[in-house]
Amino acid sequence: MLEAEYCSQAKVTRQYFMMQVLEYIADVRRAVALARGHERTSIGFVPTMGALHTGHASLIRAARQQDDFVVVSIFVNPTQFGPQEDLRNYPRPLERDLAMCREEKVDLVFLPSATEMYGDGSFTQVRVELLSRTLCGAHRPGHFDGVALVVTKLFNIVQPDRAYFGQKDAQQATIIRRMVRDLNQPVDVVVCPTVREADGLAMSSRNAYLSPEQRTQAPVLYRSLQMVSLAIAKGEHRVEQLRLLACVEIQSVKAVNIDYLELVDPETLQPVNQLGRQVLAAGAVRLGAARLIDNLLIDVPD
Ligand code: PAJ
Repeated sequence: MLEAEYCSQAKVTRQYFMMQVLEYIADVRRAVALARGHERTSIGFVPTMGALHTGHASLIRAARQQDDFVVVSIFVNPTQFGPQEDLRNYPRPLERDLAMCREEKVDLVFLPSATEMYGDGSFTQVRVELLSRTLCGAHRPGHFDGVALVVTKLFNIVQPDRAYFGQKDAQQATIIRRMVRDLNQPVDVVVCPTVREADGLAMSSRNAYLSPEQRTQAPVLYRSLQMVSLAIAKGEHRVEQLRLLACVEIQSVKAVNIDYLELVDPETLQPVNQLGRQVLAAGAVRLGAARLIDNLLIDVPD
């Protein structure tokens, strides 16, 4: 669906619920300022690209618990997609998304167009060096620059007290935390646990790309990470052995191709040679039209 159609649907929806759905930056600023002016003091913010599922809902619930006024943005951000990626095909089930936001008692949905967000482009870039280059960054050049730019812009528009991100995208969460620290952005970053399907597959908007057969194969990534965790608990500390264990498990499913499977330092996201107190096991695989990512933060016993 085209961006224009996507937004015009919102105009129809807007009339029958109290939640505000706003397309313009100036309106969002006004609404947030008004909310702050009343007794409602803290603003919680959940940035998303829509196609909302229970993983997104868990972030909204965390915000609802902690904050008085909850803002969700739905914006399929073009600057974080590579030329060969799925920007055009990214799912945009707007009515369902708004229904979920309403159910979760969101106060304001920000639904900007690409023109509203970027106008005639952006001369300014936001790059979190080092952290953006590894893992997914190595396979998706420029992706995290696009994420850092749009999140900075959204923070400047919404001016939240707290912003909620999922551990599912561990690299993204680490990058945002570092960016907020480096740029003194006045936001508390809250990272919420990964929400999974019953068979362990991490919920993702991109799971919709999987055929029924691929859907049965997809949990292999999580299984391989669990095997790493179990092996570490049992005393296997050799990083290459642990990586091999996971890769062999993934390769047992022929349809799955590994982009990367790494054990990295949770702060620097650089591959480790030796295990410290904690290690992040992170992987990305391609399965049909879907690229799936997952990770586990593992405590290492002495
Ligand atoms: P999106 O993929 O829509 O994800 C929005 C938020 O939901 C992210 O913080 C993501 O980590 C979290 N999330 C997704 N699946 C989850 C799951 N299974 N469990 C817990 N949290 C989950 O991430 C983005 O959008 C964009 O890059 C964005 C930050 C909005 C910038 O454009």
